[in-house]
Amino acid sequence: MGDGEGPSWSDIAGWYDDLLTAGSGPHQTAVATLLALLPPVTGREIVDVACGTGLATRAVAAAGAARVVGVDSSAAMVARAEGHEVPAGSDVTYVVDDAQTLATLADAAFDGATCQLGLMDIPDLDATLAAVARVLRPGGWFVFVIGHPCTLVPDAVATTTPDGRPAVAITGYFDERFWRSANPEGVRRAGNHHRTFATYLDALAGAGFVLEQAAEPRATGTLSAKQPLYSEVPIFFAARVRRG
Ligand SMILES: C[S@@+](CC[C@H](N)C(=O)[O-])C[C@H]1O[C@@H](n2cnc3c(N)ncnc32)[C@H](O)[C@@H]1O
Repeated sequence: MGDGEGPSWSDIAGWYDDLLTAGSGPHQTAVATLLALLPPVTGREIVDVACGTGLATRAVAAAGAARVVGVDSSAAMVARAEGHEVPAGSDVTYVVDDAQTLATLADAAFDGATCQLGLMDIPDLDATLAAVARVLRPGGWFVFVIGHPCTLVPDAVATTTPDGRPAVAITGYFDERFWRSANPEGVRRAGNHHRTFATYLDALAGAGFVLEQAAEPRATGTLSAKQPLYSEVPIFFAARVRRG
């Protein structure tokens, strides 16, 4: 177990891998959002931070990157990632490392970095963004997807408007804290760090990143069918930023 009050990422690695392999609406939406924000990757070297079981890592490789390195602090997640076939002709490797330092990676080693559904799971946001900036070449880009900090708030309560539309009641938005979902089938039972939207934007600026493009995907397909709320409010915030 993780901190004694709930599972760690390693504890749920097998469950998580099976969930994604079976087809998860939120993850399908996250990958599509990430890919839409990527600049051309053909011939580029990319690091996928908090890669988990490698869903985004392989998607970036399939988009034509010359080399993709997936990094995750959970050895169990990396072991699962290594069990997946990589796109034909691609160069995909994985390493166990802490995103807050990326100590195994050299300075200025990558053209781009991705982080899909990872930043809210890592305790020190400033250290993580500094590490990402360090391993990027000058002018390198960073594309990330996070659970939307304005809608995936710890005490959010699903509700319905008087005219029958799915909605969510938000309280406690301003209280930044670590929390776990009580849902025994929820990814967020492994815990994550609620931060305000402004905290994310200020941290990016503080690490020297400049915003190029942002996205708040509206649910379609599997996600819309299973969680119609996310056709009303965004499930994710995503952006491409660039190191100055
Ligand atoms: C929700 S999963 C996302 C995995 C993958 N990017 C995806 O989209 O499926 C969050 C991941 O963050 C990883 N993680 C949490 N803290 C980390 C840290 N300090 N350094 C690196 N990875 C971390 C976890 O092990 C887990 O694999």
